[in-house]
Amino acid sequence: MRKEVTAGELNTESFTREKVEDIRNAVGDGTAINALSGGVDSSVVTMLGHLALGPRLRTVIIENGLMRESEVEQVVAYFRDLGVAVEVVDARTEFFAALKGVTDPEKKREAITQTFYRDVFGRIVRESSARYLLQGTILTDVDETVAGIKRQHNVFEQLGIDPQAAFGYRILEPLIELRKDGVRKLGKSLGLPNELFDRIPFPGPALAARVIGEATPERIETVRRATVVIERLLKESGAFQYLGVLHEDRVTGMRDGKRDFGQQIEVRCWDSTDARTAKPTRLSFDLLEQLGREIIREVPGVVSVTYNIASKPPSTIEAI
Ligand code: XMP
Repeated sequence: MRKEVTAGELNTESFTREKVEDIRNAVGDGTAINALSGGVDSSVVTMLGHLALGPRLRTVIIENGLMRESEVEQVVAYFRDLGVAVEVVDARTEFFAALKGVTDPEKKREAITQTFYRDVFGRIVRESSARYLLQGTILTDVDETVAGIKRQHNVFEQLGIDPQAAFGYRILEPLIELRKDGVRKLGKSLGLPNELFDRIPFPGPALAARVIGEATPERIETVRRATVVIERLLKESGAFQYLGVLHEDRVTGMRDGKRDFGQQIEVRCWDSTDARTAKPTRLSFDLLEQLGREIIREVPGVVSVTYNIASKPPSTIEAI
């Protein structure tokens, strides 16, 4: 059993001191590397690593082409304001090549995971002189792996690093005793901006989890534009999570007096506390109509907007 430090017990000052010390002792005069996604866990790990190692920590953010509007730039700017340099690695071509022609949901997820670990981040790690990887694993990830919800994985294998050659590589997981609420508390004490904590959950496969069928650059752009409208109009809804899904079926609509066989966006907005179960939020019909109007006005090619009224289970929060 791994030790748990609850959010209530967590003394952010002594925890930070201890972890900074651990990272320094482990890395010595070497260098470390980490991948930042902009999520809470990887953001907090980046701050701890930065405090411990300064410029000897190389933090990369991988632009996979699947993130929300301006998301990568925003995350880089938050860290720039904190004095942390983040390197953007443009891997859009590789991700879209891996997603080409893939329509099966699990294969899509797998293509994204493989491209991230083995092709892009794996290459960066293999080509760098860093032998230490900082990872934002939290206790819940460990529990979910044990319970079989998440796949047990050997990170080095995922990175395409042969265990023989991997000798000398080490993973540092400074958040492994914490759960999400503890990580948030720690992040706030480290000066991370509220915007990073107030963000609604966002899945690893990013917008590709919200495109039914092939995730082409054009189709991702469609769901990205719809997401801008949905996040703007539902920001004050108090809902747990809200998102748009691009469907494959087309329907006839009228645009500028002409018949247009166009695309459909489904809006999902969830009330939930832990994402395990969820119910559709009872949005007002006025707000729903406004969503319909503004999505159709701002997203080229969309002629139909629907609202999901199924609960989880058996539905899931994301569409794939
Ligand atoms: P589902 O769709 O399974 O989602 O009901 C439950 C919660 O998890 C998020 N989600 C993910 N988060 N990587 C993540 O880090 C993923 O692959 C992933 N898939 C779903 C989802 O947004 C929701 O909050």
